[in-house]
Amino acid sequence: MTDLAALVEQLDDPAFYADDPFPVYAELRAHDPLARHPGGFRIVSRHTDVLRISRDPEAFCSGRGILLMDIGRELPDTPGALLYVDPPQHTRYRELVNPSFTGARVRALESWVRDLARGLIERIDPGTPIDIVEHVTVPFPLLVIAELLGVPAEDRDRFQAWSDAMIRATNEPGGVPDDDSSWQLGEFVNYLLEVFVDRRAHPRPDLVTELIGATVDGERLDDGELLMFCIQLLVAGNETTRNLLSAGLLAFAASPKQWDRLREDPALVPSAAEELLRYTSPVISFMRTATRPVEVGGIPIEEGEHLLLLYASANRDEAVFGPTAERFDVGRHPNHHVGFGFGAHFCLGAALARLETRVFLEELLARFVRIEVAGPVIRTPSTVIAGVTRAELVLSA
Ligand code: HEM
Repeated sequence: MTDLAALVEQLDDPAFYADDPFPVYAELRAHDPLARHPGGFRIVSRHTDVLRISRDPEAFCSGRGILLMDIGRELPDTPGALLYVDPPQHTRYRELVNPSFTGARVRALESWVRDLARGLIERIDPGTPIDIVEHVTVPFPLLVIAELLGVPAEDRDRFQAWSDAMIRATNEPGGVPDDDSSWQLGEFVNYLLEVFVDRRAHPRPDLVTELIGATVDGERLDDGELLMFCIQLLVAGNETTRNLLSAGLLAFAASPKQWDRLREDPALVPSAAEELLRYTSPVISFMRTATRPVEVGGIPIEEGEHLLLLYASANRDEAVFGPTAERFDVGRHPNHHVGFGFGAHFCLGAALARLETRVFLEELLARFVRIEVAGPVIRTPSTVIAGVTRAELVLSA
């Protein structure tokens, strides 16, 4: 008999997620779908419960933290931080920024997003091992966000350093950035403030100009909100997409038949992108806190209880994905995954991430018939992001 309590205990350990957590998720879904963790939170492992909680932000708020490290700490007031804000303020923010991220708006970016992908993919030497993370999947989304925020080519190296520092800071225990991260963050803030001044004086057809001008009921985002919003784009848009692409390539290396299928039928690329989101679940989990006594799946939840929405487990739930839930299937349909979350906080960048993934796969398909692992694969220990630090692959033409 499995010692469920011992399995549950591992779920606040970043190293647990860098191994193979899926068998443990299956145990939780089957035997204790709202398991209590001694660290003072519950683990929500079933798809239906993740949806139930996500669609009710009045009862399950984000304002009391969304990461395990937020438990018990005083959260700083960060206007503009969408992830940490609840309705009605959250609704106002989304009304302001949603128009810039719709499917139609994002589709208009396709040609330069494709140019960026192609530029990186063309540098892959067929048949020669390459750390795909360092050379392709890290720079690609970073370049996309840099372009969106209007960072010119000559500042891209600084931008990479800011992004790294930002990601480091969000991973620090207690959320306190180290000295270098603080310094980099300060530099990035000054840089963005200068961009805001410039765009107010010289509007351009770009995202920052649009965000500066966006109004709802005559209200605009102030500089603090704009800053936080841009920083959030950098963090939310980078680490997620890079890991989807890295883990995606590893999934294809492990299932060459799925790559063959895609080559034979490129019309499957959009459904392959959805399946990658489900199967790799780049965001493992985010948390909510109950604002009042409430029930989930027949279990009473007390006011103040923290609930960790385990998207990665929901995405393998047999009750929704059937007996093939653990299988990687580029033709899966329907595919109601929660890789982008669900409800009010549903990923703002979903259309952009989908575009990046589709374009990336199409450009790879045009060049490579086979993807194989050729050296070390290092997964990143994290309770939040299913990361790949290094993946040495060989792509054959
Ligand atoms: C594969 C790529 C991506 C994945 C898997 C992903 C996943 C997620 C998830 C699970 C959430 C829900 C957060 C919650 O419920 O608390 C979210 C929110 C968010 N994402 Fe993404 N994301 C991706 C790409 C992007 C990109 C490219 C951007 C922007 C350029 C972006 C910006 C955001 C923002 C701003 C939010 C907060 C939305 C809100 O709280 O209202 N994401 N994302």
